Amino acid sequence: MKFKTIKYHFDLLNDKDRLSAFFQAIKDYDGKTSLACDLGCGSGILSYFLSQYFDEIISLEMDSSAYKCARENLADFDNVKVVNCDVLDYEFDREIDLIVCEMMDTALIDEEEIPVLNHARKFLKKDGTIIPKGIINSCELVNMERDYVHWDEHAKYEVFSDAVIYSQFDLLDDIDSEFESTITLTSNKDGFVNGLKITTFTLLNDDLVCGPTPMLNPPLLIPLEKQLVKSNDLINVKLKYIMGNGIESIQTDILR
Ligand SMILES: C[S@@+](CC[C@H](N)C(=O)[O-])C[C@H]1O[C@@H](n2cnc3c(N)ncnc32)[C@H](O)[C@@H]1O
Repeated sequence: MKFKTIKYHFDLLNDKDRLSAFFQAIKDYDGKTSLACDLGCGSGILSYFLSQYFDEIISLEMDSSAYKCARENLADFDNVKVVNCDVLDYEFDREIDLIVCEMMDTALIDEEEIPVLNHARKFLKKDGTIIPKGIINSCELVNMERDYVHWDEHAKYEVFSDAVIYSQFDLLDDIDSEFESTITLTSNKDGFVNGLKITTFTLLNDDLVCGPTPMLNPPLLIPLEKQLVKSNDLINVKLKYIMGNGIESIQTDILR
């Protein structure tokens, strides 16, 4: 099928690993099939996948250009209704069997996945499901070239510790969007560290995990106060951010 799209969504559609992960999770879904919703449907690709399995799909998109593409792309599917709105303002009039929400970004900081799911989950059936099911976040100490928050595409950095898993969420749970944790990392060589690299793994369902792809949670590099470390030093880092409030909400502190 040919999809009409706009630049950002064109890049999303070209990320084959991202699309295959969501396609497989939708194919693997084995619950009830009355109503699915696709939150932040973009140009409508995940609604298209859902259309083969569900009696009805409600697809919500707040960006009007993406919405117009989705409406056109899905016009031939009588079981899909596309609505131009902010999910946070939308009240479903029935309970939902499956929520699909790909408003992902690394550690769910920059996009509204958590606030949107905290709102939409109220309408999910007791035995309902969410795709993705959860996320796992890990971090490493790095020495990085740039001194601002950035995604790792073309970025230069050197890793200074093993990865530590510092948080994991089941998206079926109500989640506090204000995140704060103290993470202990062990340096594995001598030198200066000045950053943290965050890597997010997406759990599509109980059996399917997807690591970073170009358009799904590429690793995020965050500046840290510069510090001389020796191999095997323990470094305690306080990491704070508000999920859904953007990368400006990130704060780090080295605890001594
Ligand atoms: C990462 S894109 C994914 C698009 C599509 N689901 C896909 O997988 O190709 C996230 C989409 O969510 C939309 N979005 C973000 N916050 C939203 C909100 N509060 N309500 C509705 N749409 C939202 C964005 O405009 C964007 O189109």
